[in-house]
Amino acid sequence: MTENEKYIGVFDSGIGGLTVVKSIVETMPNENIIYFGDTAHVPYGTRSKEQITEYVLSDVKFLSRFSLKAVVIACNTADSAAREKVEEKYSDLPVYGVVAPASRKAAELTKNNKVGVIATNATVNSGAYEKTIHGYSPDIRVISLACPLLVPLVEEGRFKKGDKVIEQVLKEYLTPLKEQGIDTLVLGCTHYPLLYDVITEIMGGGVTVISSSVAAAEELKKGLKEKNLLSETADSERKYFVSDNAEDFENHALFFMGDSLGGAVEQVDIEE
Ligand code: DGL
Repeated sequence: MTENEKYIGVFDSGIGGLTVVKSIVETMPNENIIYFGDTAHVPYGTRSKEQITEYVLSDVKFLSRFSLKAVVIACNTADSAAREKVEEKYSDLPVYGVVAPASRKAAELTKNNKVGVIATNATVNSGAYEKTIHGYSPDIRVISLACPLLVPLVEEGRFKKGDKVIEQVLKEYLTPLKEQGIDTLVLGCTHYPLLYDVITEIMGGGVTVISSSVAAAEELKKGLKEKNLLSETADSERKYFVSDNAEDFENHALFFMGDSLGGAVEQVDIEE
């Protein structure tokens, strides 16, 4: 396996990270990808920083069994809580995330310097988005909002336009942000790209909606290109591993990937 053909290791607490895989496949169809979803421990978004860090280090340890050229933390909650620990422990491995790319894009795109961020409780409590956005531009006012009802609703398939429940829940969450006059909204959770259509409709034309999953794939592509590490393999490979029921994951995965997964799903015990 040449350096370019090595795998990109992608992980998430469960299924949300598939929106990042989808964006990677769309922008870099020749990449070999290993995905790990820690479905035995999902959700991460309601847990403590210590617990999330412990899970994340096990996730990366599992992925590092494969020949990797990069690892992508495809979960805002994991990235916010444990990014530094991963970089410290795996200093030889290029680590990409979701928070920095989405923050950079928000800082670049806001015109009135008012950015909203919606995310899980853990991501909002970590203050990671405020810190990162202020690193790019200290004058931006960041208004973060935890939206704990969104992950379970998306996982239940309640994300489509016309679904009264998700529309009502999103209106309640987003109306105060809209009233504060934000011109940019970051979807700071990898489940939320599925809600893009409903969210853009509620926010209206004056608000730019940024998907952390799309931003992550763009940044990864830029990073690999700079290092001359993009793959040109025509028959690229995708493999999926989960820590709980594989069938359950497969049944929900198509919501996230749009079409086929492009590879098999296998349940693994990562402690072995
Ligand atoms: N998809 C995860 C994120 O980006 C949230 C899901 C969870 O709570 O585990 O934050």
